[in-house]
Amino acid sequence: MGSSSGPILEVRDLVKHYGGVRAVDGISFAVERGTITGLIGPNGAGKSTALNVIAGFLPPDGGRVLLDGEDVTGQPMHRLARQGVVRTFQMARVFGGLTTIENLLVAAPAQLGETATGLIGGKRLWGGQESELIERAKEMLTAFGMRDKADEQARNLSGGQKRAVETMRALMARPKLLLLDEPMAGLSPSLSKQLEDLFLELTHDGLSMLLVEHSLDTVERLCTKVVVMAQGKVLAEGRMSELRTRREVQDAYVIG
Ligand SMILES: Nc1ncnc2c1ncn2[C@@H]1O[C@H](COP(=O)(O)OP(=O)(O)O)[C@@H](O)[C@H]1O
Ligand SMILES: [Mg+2]
Repeated sequence: MGSSSGPILEVRDLVKHYGGVRAVDGISFAVERGTITGLIGPNGAGKSTALNVIAGFLPPDGGRVLLDGEDVTGQPMHRLARQGVVRTFQMARVFGGLTTIENLLVAAPAQLGETATGLIGGKRLWGGQESELIERAKEMLTAFGMRDKADEQARNLSGGQKRAVETMRALMARPKLLLLDEPMAGLSPSLSKQLEDLFLELTHDGLSMLLVEHSLDTVERLCTKVVVMAQGKVLAEGRMSELRTRREVQDAYVIG
C-alpha cells in the first residue's frame, strides 16, 4: 500500500551491529519526495552502513525501513531495486573488461531482461528497447562529459570517471529513490558541478535522493535537509546553513 503524500523513505530506529561495533545505533529520519536529503558525519559515523541496510545489502538488527509508506525492512537489494531503490557503493564497482557504455547497459533494469545477458555474452540483440537504452546511455555520457569514453575499456578510466560510471549506471535504472555514497569523491571540480546540476534537475523531475557526501558546500547547495550522524546515532537534523552554527555539530564534525 503506497501513499503519494508521505515521505518516500522513512527510517525508524534502525540498528546494525558488527559484532560489538554499534555501527548504526537506532537512527530515525525521513526523505521527502523529490528532494535530496544529505547524510553527513565524521568517518566511522555509520553512514555507509546505514545506506547498506536501507538498500537491503545488509539485513538490519532492528528497526524499520518504510518505502512509500510500505514496510520493506530486510528485503534484499534486488527486490528493492525492482521497487525503484538503487544505491551506489563508496568504492566504485565497474566491470573493467567491458567498455564504458556496456557498463551502463548492464545496469540491467528489470525491463532490459534477456538483452543484458545477450550483450555480455556477445550476442548483440538490437531490439527496439535496446536501442532506446543505448540512446539513453549516450545521453547520460554526454551529460557527464564522457561521450568520448563510450568505447573505452572501463579499467582504463580514472578513479573519478569510474565513480561517474557507477552513478550513471544507477541512473540508467530510472530509480525513484537513489542512495548515493560519496558520488563526488575523486571527480574533477567541473564534473562535480555538472553532477550537482544534473542531480537538481532530476529531483525536479521527481527523483528522491539520500546523499552521503563529504563536501559540505555541495551538501548545502543540494540538500533541503541534512541528517548528521556520529557514532551510529543521529546527532542533529536541519538545513546545512543552520547546522553549521550548532555547537554539537561543530564538535562532532569539524566544520571547515
Ligand atoms: N564490514 C564491517 N565489519 C566490521 N565493522 C565495520 C564494517 N563496516 C564498517 N564497520 C565499522 O562500523 C562503523 C561505521 O562504519 P561506516 O558505516 O563505514 O561509517 P562511515 O561510512 O560513516 O564512515 C565503523 O566503526 C567501522 O569501522
Ligand atoms: Mg562511508
